[in-house]
Amino acid sequence: MKVLGIDIGGSAFKGAPVDTKTGRLLAERHRVEITSPCPTAEGLAAAREIARHFQWRGPVGIGFPGIVLGDRSGPVGNLGKNWEGLNLAARFNRATGGDTHVCNDADAAGLAEMKFGAGRGFPGSVLMLTMGTGIGSALFYQGRLMPNLEFGHIPWQGRPIERFASAAVKKRLDLSWRDWAKRVNQFLAVVERLCAPELIIIGGGVSKKSDRWFHYLKAKARVVPARLQNDAGIVGAALAWEQGAEKK
Ligand code: BGC
Repeated sequence: MKVLGIDIGGSAFKGAPVDTKTGRLLAERHRVEITSPCPTAEGLAAAREIARHFQWRGPVGIGFPGIVLGDRSGPVGNLGKNWEGLNLAARFNRATGGDTHVCNDADAAGLAEMKFGAGRGFPGSVLMLTMGTGIGSALFYQGRLMPNLEFGHIPWQGRPIERFASAAVKKRLDLSWRDWAKRVNQFLAVVERLCAPELIIIGGGVSKKSDRWFHYLKAKARVVPARLQNDAGIVGAALAWEQGAEKK
């Protein structure tokens, strides 16, 4: 089945049509930059622009950077508080003109890695982490997702830990890979104390450069880079649409 996958990040909306059987993108991804925090109208226009770019009329799966309960948003991370408590499915439906399903962005990335990437066939507990503007997290056990896990919001020195250890912090403070990895190790130590996953998959832009910093990591679990790298969020948003449709 062909679904338009859209991944909403802290600095851009990225989308492409996805073949959900193979996990392949059917065209080069289209990226629309946004301001941060992002006014709702601007975000909806970005989704509209992605659908227009691909002249899309079919189903649309969206990975959203906050808690998603059914069709509605709960607390939101870096996109902006104005996105909280909205009927996201209805708004994105109107914006894109396609039947829309919305889920958390890290849950989407995890679904893609479990089906087509680094978690494929892994029977135990798997934690997917996405390192970008924030830190996204998704936990799987025997291939099943526990949705809306927000490890990036663990309190740390009075703030969410993602403001201490995300990839955006590395950039903002111009940290070396080594100094940033020390922060990631502090995050991983807390996370491992809370859920002791057997495998940790790390995605986001920094996963492309895993050779620069993975050797500094001290997790007990095996840590691997996401195999779909930056496409995981787009592919997974499309998969989540399909799973949502199966449940209807
Ligand atoms: C949000 C999460 C999201 C993560 C990555 C956090 O700020 O609360 O829901 O998965 O950023 O985008």
